[in-house]
Amino acid sequence: MKYKLLRLTCVVALLFSIHMQGQLKKDAQKQMDTYVSSLLKNMTLEEKLGQLNLVTPIARTGPFATKNASDKMKDGSAGNIFGLHGSPSSIHMRLALSENSRLKIPLLSGLDIVHGFKTVFPIPLGLSCSWDPALIEKTARIAAVEASALGYNWTFSPMVDITRDPRWGRVMEGSGEDPYLGSLIARAMVKGYQGSDLNDDTSLIACVKHFALYGAPEAGRDYNTADMSRLTMYQYYLPPYKAAVDAGAGSIMVSFNDIEGIPATSNKWLLTDLLRKEWGFKGFVVSDFNGIQELMNHGVAADLKEAAELSLTAGVDMDMVSEALIASLKQSVKDGHVSMDQINAACRRVLEAKYKLGLFTNPYRNYDPAKADLVSLTEENRKVAKDATLRSIVLLKNDKATLPLKKNAKIALIGPFANNQNEMFSSWTLKGDVPSVVTIYEGLKKQNPDITYVQGTQVSGDPGLKLKGEPFDAALQEELVAAAMNVAKQADVIVVVLGESSAMSGEARSRTDLSLPNCQSELLKRLKSIGKPVVLLLVNGRPMTLADDLPYADAVLDIWRPGTEAGSAVADILFGAYNPTGKLTMTFPRSVGQIPIYYNTKNTGRPYTEGTEGFFSSYIDQSNTPLYPFGYGLSYTKFIYGAITLNASVLKGNNANLTASITITNSGSYAGEETVQLYIADPVASVSRAVKELKGFQKVFLQPGESKKVNFTITTEELKFFNSDLNWDWESGTFLVYIGGNSQSCEKAEFVWKK
Ligand code: GLC
Repeated sequence: MKYKLLRLTCVVALLFSIHMQGQLKKDAQKQMDTYVSSLLKNMTLEEKLGQLNLVTPIARTGPFATKNASDKMKDGSAGNIFGLHGSPSSIHMRLALSENSRLKIPLLSGLDIVHGFKTVFPIPLGLSCSWDPALIEKTARIAAVEASALGYNWTFSPMVDITRDPRWGRVMEGSGEDPYLGSLIARAMVKGYQGSDLNDDTSLIACVKHFALYGAPEAGRDYNTADMSRLTMYQYYLPPYKAAVDAGAGSIMVSFNDIEGIPATSNKWLLTDLLRKEWGFKGFVVSDFNGIQELMNHGVAADLKEAAELSLTAGVDMDMVSEALIASLKQSVKDGHVSMDQINAACRRVLEAKYKLGLFTNPYRNYDPAKADLVSLTEENRKVAKDATLRSIVLLKNDKATLPLKKNAKIALIGPFANNQNEMFSSWTLKGDVPSVVTIYEGLKKQNPDITYVQGTQVSGDPGLKLKGEPFDAALQEELVAAAMNVAKQADVIVVVLGESSAMSGEARSRTDLSLPNCQSELLKRLKSIGKPVVLLLVNGRPMTLADDLPYADAVLDIWRPGTEAGSAVADILFGAYNPTGKLTMTFPRSVGQIPIYYNTKNTGRPYTEGTEGFFSSYIDQSNTPLYPFGYGLSYTKFIYGAITLNASVLKGNNANLTASITITNSGSYAGEETVQLYIADPVASVSRAVKELKGFQKVFLQPGESKKVNFTITTEELKFFNSDLNWDWESGTFLVYIGGNSQSCEKAEFVWKK
């Protein structure tokens, strides 16, 4: 009796607390509505338009800066600013300018905090290879704490654009090709930036970008058109944006591309019907850099005023840099082309964001330069950075167990990125602290002093590569290679650090040739000709076509752009203190001609089996298979997968559960962690489905000789897909479950599930 009473009491208490939380939420919403409504009532049309205006004093990430930005912040015609740089006091002085305006409405202060602030983590594409949402959330949290202490309250991140095309330079900013993993990471980053409450001084408003489909530009050329069926959008490209919205993201940034022939910036279906009506997004929508004015280039607006009216009507609330809204909408209201209701609605959403951040009570929140130094680049932050770099690194090749290296090996360290702090960052580390970077040379030397470093080569000798910087110098190249050969001949092992400079990937950095620059490949070949073990460390922002270079490297590690703790992490991996765990989140093609290439592809009506001849979906000059598949990553040890066992082979109805189990054994001599991946295929359905789709993963750590049974629970949720009516549902049928260490080599089992 007593137990029952206790249980009843707990249930009542739980229900009461849920009710109270709901009530508190309602009260807070009511308070905010009252405050913002009274402020709106007090504002002139000009002041309202000022809140829709986002300016930048420096053109670091776009074609131009705002003229007289400071004056506009003073008079309230610029209610938001991004890209503030310089000393903390200059940032604060600029933020304080809004105190001169009549209503003293505080500013949103945004910045591209993409993979860290002062403490810099691997680029997002590298981070995603950790398959560790909790770790990724931690990196976003650290970035928020460091940035908010210097007055930023809004970050233009996470970038969640799904992409299957490594020619596009911005793949480095995203989480690769898979919607399931991309959604987990999108959610984690929003939670990391925003924390549990935007009112917390260390929170930043997240800005999910680029909505939508920016990762699918035709020909991989940045800003180009993106054209696909709604079915493909919903199944593969939209889920991470939706996950970020569901995680409570406070803002969305519109993409530059057009969708179904209408630029995203003026696409009402996208910004209102889908984002607000279907998904229930409550935050505000900001255009990307000059995106509103560019509606004229897209050919859907004859002038700036029409562009402003189209974008506001479509659902844009804030204008990044083009100043179209503030210049045109007063007349547009007079002409009856837009209504005050539309302007009030947009202004309300911006003011609500400022209210949620607590800016009306404390415009400078967490701003404290002295504190900023105390919370930035702390030991703990650097520890997380090192862990993130360790987990982002992918072992692509390790012939003859070349790695790990002996600590007493005489090492020749060669390459233009091997002792270069800047090159451990990307084009999006605007506030990264360069002097604190541990270069690869410093990291290795700390663990093995018997190391000699030489540059070995210039980055690129390709005159066609449109990059600022020194023109290629043939005489210098000869000297560099000669010095490298000399050092290499005296070493036991050659570690060569090659790949892309930070200027070769990122925004407006599409490439048609994804191989190593010729001068780098030539050096690699020369070094291998010496006959000693060669370890290639790849510094890159995208999958690259390495097939021709692979024969000249015994081991290959993809270290991406590894961030602040580059050298300490690389040293731990090279000398075996950490056994690599990274798994690719984007397919590496054998050649550019295979692009777009991705794992969750369709079977087609004429599926091809490697090595067969005839009328199949294949090439006459290349294999269909990738160089490295999605989910791929080696370890210093070997994981053996047993057969899949299912606790049922026929299931019925929505509420049934299937358990798929598999035993993994570490058959090698190193302890290691494996990311066990679960894929599901639906071979017969009302629409043709991908050959497999990632539906789960688990990490297992195994000592040498140890085995563990891994269980995956499968419900009808894992069987669902968007059907031709765009309904998210599952259908009866036979399904295949795949479990393995990458998307290509899996164990398989079959089950039937009936409605
Ligand atoms: C750029 C980028 C966007 C960035 C913005 C502000 O053009 O497309 O990702 O956040 O401008 O820097």
